Amino acid sequence: MCGIVGYIGSKSALDILLDGLTNLEYRGYDSAGIAVNIDGMVELYKAEGKLQNLKDITEANRTHITKSTIGIGHIRWATHGAPTTINAHPHSCNCGKIAVVHNGIIENYKELRENLEKQGCVFRSQTDTETVAHLVAHKYAQTNDLTEAVRLATKEIEGAYALCVIHQDVKDTIVATRRNAPLLVGIGEGEYYLASDVPAIIQHTKKAMYIDDNQIVTLTPNSMKYIDTDKNVLEPKIEHLPWEPVALSKMGYKHFMLKEIHEQPDVVRNVLSGKLKAIDEKIKLDEVTLNANDFKNLTRIQIVACGTSLHAAMIGKYIIEDFCGIPVDVEPASEFIYRRTITDKNTLVIGVSQSGETADTITAVRQAKALGSHILIVTNRPDSTMAREANSLVPVNAGIEVSVAATKSYMAQVISFYLLAIYMAEVKESMELSELNKLKHELIVLPQKIEEVLAHKESIKACAKRFANAKDFIFIARGINFPTALEGALKLKEISYINATGYTAGELKHGPIAMLDESMPVLSILITGKVYEKILSNSEEAKARNARMIALTNSTDEKINDLFEAIIRVPEIDELVSPALAIVPLQLLAYYIAEFLGKDVDQPRNLAKSVTVE
Ligand code: F6R
Repeated sequence: MCGIVGYIGSKSALDILLDGLTNLEYRGYDSAGIAVNIDGMVELYKAEGKLQNLKDITEANRTHITKSTIGIGHIRWATHGAPTTINAHPHSCNCGKIAVVHNGIIENYKELRENLEKQGCVFRSQTDTETVAHLVAHKYAQTNDLTEAVRLATKEIEGAYALCVIHQDVKDTIVATRRNAPLLVGIGEGEYYLASDVPAIIQHTKKAMYIDDNQIVTLTPNSMKYIDTDKNVLEPKIEHLPWEPVALSKMGYKHFMLKEIHEQPDVVRNVLSGKLKAIDEKIKLDEVTLNANDFKNLTRIQIVACGTSLHAAMIGKYIIEDFCGIPVDVEPASEFIYRRTITDKNTLVIGVSQSGETADTITAVRQAKALGSHILIVTNRPDSTMAREANSLVPVNAGIEVSVAATKSYMAQVISFYLLAIYMAEVKESMELSELNKLKHELIVLPQKIEEVLAHKESIKACAKRFANAKDFIFIARGINFPTALEGALKLKEISYINATGYTAGELKHGPIAMLDESMPVLSILITGKVYEKILSNSEEAKARNARMIALTNSTDEKINDLFEAIIRVPEIDELVSPALAIVPLQLLAYYIAEFLGKDVDQPRNLAKSVTVE
């Protein structure tokens, strides 16, 4: 949520900042801005709306702006103050010498602002960030040292922040710090980069250092000073970033979302690789540190997550309970954190997050950790804040996901839950070997089945065209595919803005059925197995109320042909593994409907990829 980029070195900063912001655009797209230092003057360029507006402004002044070899940039997802040019970052102080970009929320900004106003500061924006610019300016006036000014300011600000600050009078320096918001330094030859996320810098360097909470870095083209907010000098921990720049290309697809949907067969292969080697070998999860005894003592599992990750968690609940007989609760992290936390050392707490930076989920796992629970994190970002809270880690290896609507990371999370559940069942010896082997086989052949679905995408596109004008959409399923119905509905509503809801098919008759008429599409997830006949009769009930029926099915049963107006077919699959296949056509359906409606698929309105505020 919000993206930050910074550069200091000998190259022109402009394109590095703009390219960095382009690769962070998924983090927010309400407004954008940069600050550079040209001939000893800090200059701000800001624009409301998409990044292209800022690019147009900077293009008109390109010859002038390219002179700067230092700069900071920001892409905003508005929290305090409307998404206007005035509220766009960077923000400055009265004298205009300081520029600040910020990701997070300054919780005590009102008190700080009142105080600063009393001391003569004139605020131009409604943002919490502007208080930081004025505060740092005050501290600089007292100390004449930018690092010290930032350090003193951090002692007064409360909340979450990643901050980068430049000052006109120290034109070869950027100071950066963070608390509960991600920030990393990229290291080049005679140059440094700053970013809130890897995509902003990966095309320049793979050598990087993650800044931790309450740490401050001071960068010049040839030096990095690294301290904590108590002035202790720290030893930099330099890492090699395991990402490839190619992940940021659309590779010929019209949208990142479509590309990422197509990557899913390989994502499944990657997740399984090294963990599920052969049917008769046990699952290997190297970074899970619980032993057989720990598993024996577990009385309960609590999973916390948000959005799409929550849906993966719901599948996790179903299979862990089914394979291992351990009770599992799943709760949105945003709810979990505002009631009494009842976890203890016999509760395994699992946090699930693509980004590993979702504020609600981080808070939830920290609360549980404080009560002594073992924390297991399932994440696509082993380098994230959440991963650093983990006692055990399951890295999901989906690669960088750019589309705001999560697809391949969901697939990777779901597959990781299968591995985890089978791993636990093997440790606990809670399942017949033949059943385990059958499940492993289903996982190994899953990529080909997904490829088959992708090969028939034209039929899903045709279905999308037929239903694109619907105002509402209902998805129904039972059992293990109920989360698939929720996820299918979420995908559709977030990128097409059609009001879509997932229901357990059995609940339809307890209220939602009142909404059905000839204008309402009802998509039934009809997978052969335990609840097949039940969903079929629920679909009959919906049809009897004139709903427009769509089936998503692996069934070859002819009697469904008359019941459904459209049928999306998937290959034969075991019901227990079916959520990992059934979601793919739903992702494609949502994608094509949004495309037909002309929506901005990769950057849906009001959303941001990584939600770093509670
Ligand atoms: C939907 C989507 C969001 C995220 C949610 C949690 O497509 O992407 O619902 O799933 O914001 O994000 P993570 O998984 O990063 O914690």
